[in-house]
Amino acid sequence: MKIAVLAGDGIGPEVTREAVRVLEALRLPGLVLFEGDVGGMAYKRHGHPLPAETLEMVRGCDAILFGAVGDPDCDGLERHLRPEQAILGLRKELGLFANLRPAKLFKGLEDASALRPEVASAIDLLIVRELNGDVYFGEKGIRTLADGRRQGWDTMSYAEDEVRRIAHVGFRAAKGRRGKLCSVDKANVLETSQLWRDVVIEVAKDYPEVELSHMYVDNAAMQLVRNPGQFDVIVTGNLFGDILSDQASMCVGSIGLLASASLSEGTMGLYEPIHGSAPDIAGRGLANPLATILSAAMLLRHSLHLEDEATRIETAVAKALADGVRGGDLGGTLGTTAIGDAVLERL
Ligand code: IPM
Ligand code: MG
Repeated sequence: MKIAVLAGDGIGPEVTREAVRVLEALRLPGLVLFEGDVGGMAYKRHGHPLPAETLEMVRGCDAILFGAVGDPDCDGLERHLRPEQAILGLRKELGLFANLRPAKLFKGLEDASALRPEVASAIDLLIVRELNGDVYFGEKGIRTLADGRRQGWDTMSYAEDEVRRIAHVGFRAAKGRRGKLCSVDKANVLETSQLWRDVVIEVAKDYPEVELSHMYVDNAAMQLVRNPGQFDVIVTGNLFGDILSDQASMCVGSIGLLASASLSEGTMGLYEPIHGSAPDIAGRGLANPLATILSAAMLLRHSLHLEDEATRIETAVAKALADGVRGGDLGGTLGTTAIGDAVLERL
């Protein structure tokens, strides 16, 4: 069981360290961890945010535990050299098209949510975000128009097979949960979304047991704060999924709590917190490592099929939160290592 650990930038190394401590505490026979450089730190060391040696190393592994990338020092670089290209490159190169972002309110966090406790306590949803297409990977540029004005442009597109494969992931996930799938699009305006909707309806024929609904993304954003308990599984494109998952995180209390799994058609998976590198608090031991620890649990479940061990980690995290373990993001005072310690004790 070979795991590539790519800690990256900002708070990435701090939060990843805690997740690695948790993995090591399980004493899994045959587990080997390899470290690699990604993001702004990789650019500084190797001149590229996703160096060839990192890509080669991860290809030899079964799964990747990823921290975060993003570094304000790199804002002036050409886009293909910016830290974010590391994560986008890995998603594309490894065919990681299916991003699972679960959001559930932990017991004890009712008051931490940005929503009223009775609204927040009903949250138990899964965002299935497409990760290999959309406006993220379309042609783009900044050009000068005939009259001299500069124009930025990006192209949004989805081919039907891209929609079909993520729709299947959404339906299968719904089947294993409460049987409800909500497809989120902007079909009232975008042709890309019209095709998305048509294809999702076609795929629905294979899943008569799943109740399918459609929602425009603006309405979905509203419903997510009005009545998030109505959602079971949400399936959506890359851009809408990016936005809605950040929103969902504050509905359950903090962006420091949301884990994610990025899966391919094969066995390779990448596991990362949904948050970024948070340069403002980096290196100060203030970041909440729980999202990364929960991502390690998803890694055990989805890539190594160690369901019991995954549940053990999730239970330890839930216990810690129920016992009042809180970092600054949740109104508490504990630092990164202390939160890691609290999970390890309960493990
Ligand atoms: C995420 C992040 C990334 C994205 C960034 C870092 C490129 O926001 O994983 O949600 O936009 O996908
Ligand atoms: Mg995001």
